[in-house]
Amino acid sequence: MVRTVREDPGGGDRTSGTYPAADEADVVLRDGMAMHLRPIRGDDGSGLLALYDRLSLESLHFRFFAVPDKDSGKVAYLTHVDYDRRYAIVAETAGAIVGVARWERLSDRPSHAEVAFTVADDFQGRGLGSLLFQRLAALARAREITVFEAEVLKNNERMLRLFTRTALPSTTRDQGSVLTILLALDPDALPPA
Ligand SMILES: CC(C)(COP(=O)(O)OP(=O)(O)OC[C@H]1O[C@@H](n2cnc3c(N)ncnc32)[C@H](O)[C@@H]1OP(=O)(O)O)[C@@H](O)C(=O)NCCC(=O)NCCS
Repeated sequence: MVRTVREDPGGGDRTSGTYPAADEADVVLRDGMAMHLRPIRGDDGSGLLALYDRLSLESLHFRFFAVPDKDSGKVAYLTHVDYDRRYAIVAETAGAIVGVARWERLSDRPSHAEVAFTVADDFQGRGLGSLLFQRLAALARAREITVFEAEVLKNNERMLRLFTRTALPSTTRDQGSVLTILLALDPDALPPA
């Protein structure tokens, strides 16, 4: 199995699928701030880099398990998706990308998708990560994805609490410093824990 939410496998497709404009949505954070959630586009490279540039080392570590190289090939990989096998949504306010959530279907089990979330540090703890999760889950269900899988560092308490708050059936695989969390978007998709 190739996991690519964290790494560009190289040699991959850099063309985008047809932009699903109907998947755009407007949401409001708990503090009343308006946020536009929309599918990522091929021209979002500079906005995505600006988001990673403002992330703290801790957030970069929690997201990538390392401080990533910001080369243009990797950014192109993250911004060019087919909106089915690979999908990402961004949260935008005042012209800046302040959050991104993505899935990548597992090559050997396409009803399962690996997911990852990033929220700018100054927007964390305001409910944006939860809104991105709910939006990504709704779009995934519409494409017959039944399970989200996430690799989370064991000390990433905020991400783990967010998953718990979704109240979705889940199982956890302990892999040392990393936990693999499986969340059932369809209640029958996972065997009982
Ligand atoms: C993990 C991450 C995506 C979570 O996003 P977030 O926007 O901070 O998450 P939320 O704001 O939705 O939830 C965080 C807090 O808001 C609170 N909250 C969320 N929705 C709420 C609501 N409706 N009412 C009251 N409180 C709420 C939660 O209690 C939570 O507090 P806690 O962290 O003390 O438990 C974000 O912190 C991040 O990008 N971290 C760095 C990268 C990372 O770890 N990525 C995960 C790799 S898979």
